[in-house]
Amino acid sequence: MNKTFYVTTPIYYVNDVPHLGHAYATLVADTLARYHRLAGYDTYFLTGTDEHGEKIWKVVQALGRSPQEYVDEISESGFKALWQRWGLSNDDFIRTTQTRHVKYVQSILQRLYDAGDIYFAEYEGLYSIGSERYVTEKELVEGADGVKRLPGDRDPPELRREANYFFKLEKYRPWLIEYLETHPNLIEPVSYRNEVIEMLREPIGDLSISRPVGRLPWGIPIPWDVGDVCYVWFDALLNYVSALGGEGDPKFETYWRSTWHLVGKDILKTHSVFWLPMLKAAGLPIYEKLVVHAHILGFDGRKMGKSLGNAVDPIEMEEKYGIDALRYALLRETTFQADSAFGEKILVGRLNSDLANDLGNLLSRVLSMLEKFHDGIIPVPDELGSREEGIKAAALKLPDTILEEVRGLRFHVAIEKTMEFVRDLNRYVAETKPWELAKLEDKTRLNTVLYTLVEGIRVASVLLEPVIPNQAKEIRKQLGLELHYTLEPAWGLAKSGSQIASAGVLFPKVELKETPIVTPETPPAPVLETPPAQEFIGIEDFAKVQLRVAEVLACERIPKADKLLKLTVAIGEERRTILSGIAEYYTPEDLIGKRVVVVANLAPRKMRGIESQGMILAATDENGKVVIVSPERLVPSGVEVR
Ligand code: ME8
Repeated sequence: MNKTFYVTTPIYYVNDVPHLGHAYATLVADTLARYHRLAGYDTYFLTGTDEHGEKIWKVVQALGRSPQEYVDEISESGFKALWQRWGLSNDDFIRTTQTRHVKYVQSILQRLYDAGDIYFAEYEGLYSIGSERYVTEKELVEGADGVKRLPGDRDPPELRREANYFFKLEKYRPWLIEYLETHPNLIEPVSYRNEVIEMLREPIGDLSISRPVGRLPWGIPIPWDVGDVCYVWFDALLNYVSALGGEGDPKFETYWRSTWHLVGKDILKTHSVFWLPMLKAAGLPIYEKLVVHAHILGFDGRKMGKSLGNAVDPIEMEEKYGIDALRYALLRETTFQADSAFGEKILVGRLNSDLANDLGNLLSRVLSMLEKFHDGIIPVPDELGSREEGIKAAALKLPDTILEEVRGLRFHVAIEKTMEFVRDLNRYVAETKPWELAKLEDKTRLNTVLYTLVEGIRVASVLLEPVIPNQAKEIRKQLGLELHYTLEPAWGLAKSGSQIASAGVLFPKVELKETPIVTPETPPAPVLETPPAQEFIGIEDFAKVQLRVAEVLACERIPKADKLLKLTVAIGEERRTILSGIAEYYTPEDLIGKRVVVVANLAPRKMRGIESQGMILAATDENGKVVIVSPERLVPSGVEVR
């Protein structure tokens, strides 16, 4: 049977043009879709815009514009045009003001009403316009100004009292708890699943799903009551089904069961606590997976967003550095579990080190050696030596490994593993010295080395294609290779005898002119009481301790050692194994992708038969819980801490 894959992004509010956070989510979904297509999945990728609700109504009121005209403009010239400009691979773009969607929402409303799952009642509660939902007191956090609001919101919620239609959400709570318990992989990464389970411990109440037209005329009319329009989230969530044409449509029948909804953690509750009971009540099959990502932070360390005034314009970044560099840096520098700072400095760092230095240099060296030593023609390889066999074996193994990392939502690890292969090809050039082989009478060894390099780059270009789709094709063009390959493990597909194309530099190094990530001013250091003299150490003693930032690439428990975790970390280019007694406080999932501080020059020590090559710094809180020390903003792994 054909494997299918349906991936969706959140549909974005059109109260403003897209910012880097929207771009991030859409690029992640695009990359997921591309990996699956490349691996042979029959793939369908949906994105779109969410065009009803109070937030948008407020904006059009303020601008004095016609709502339809306004949403048309932002949806088409803001969102749709940006994805097109970037050549994203979405198969459809849904808008919630389209007739296909409006009709579908009305049919579901009617279905639930007829089934007795919707009733009319008076309600009083706190409503967040920013997040477009009623909130509970428990969800609110007190800001520096002493005002309580939902994290990420600019304004505090408003007290509302009105008569609405309600969906009997609470009735589905026992089913929902059981469904989550019997489907442990439904929500990933697992920390978000735990959050949802936590939300369900207490009654969740019923869901208000309508608004009186007198107050909010902008919405899908409730089919049986002209006095009300549908609540924006009830309308929006159904886009995922309406875009497939609903039950009975061949698209729905093909793709729905393999749905992966990609969403930010800000909308975890709506996609679990609201959406799952809605599907159940409507008699629709449950999605396969809810994939939740963390946030990109603005310069102020808060979630990037328009309302907080800390948003970065993705077009500006793309115009300066190109879409592939932006894609690469975003995916390499973020993890799904932890929020990440992102800005020009981080992007340029990655562009220079990985794309220009590792990949770009390799390509230009190989192209110029082919030109110089073999008239620009891909040679016929002779018998492979053990080094070439090693490269070939890695190339054959990597496609499955990479797909597994991607499906496990570890993009940064997938990229790192591919780049490790690229770096190994660079080492191979240094070891084999083709310029010396070229001086020999017998060219068989030279030919084998050159061919291995071309084929190695071909494989790397396929593995990276979903991340850097344009440059991956350009690499193949320059090498005179075919433009299309699949993720099927293969070696030897580069055709001997083909002519390379004349090449421009693919990834030029760039210099960062300004640093737009503004760090808020550091407060003056508190004056510390002077400790007794014998507790001082001189700077020369401190200098003996080498503290470095490391990135956790992998982490696992050690059988029969309850307290220990085994971490694989990257300190710059170097890999190390470190054992740490933190298993009671952190799960491996919590740590993968995290930046930590390690003592890098601590003598290795064996524990449980495993050599630990360093130590991770941690503090202990007031309850005796261990808390890992992590840089306050994302800094490259390998840098010194002093
Ligand atoms: O919530 N970092 O739309 P929205 C990473 N219309 N991702 C971010 C981000 C950030 N700083 N800011 C936004 C809505 N996003 C609803 C969705 S779905 C049926 C309805 C991404 O315009 C992230 O994926 O506020 C987040 O969940 C989404 O944009 C919210 O977009």
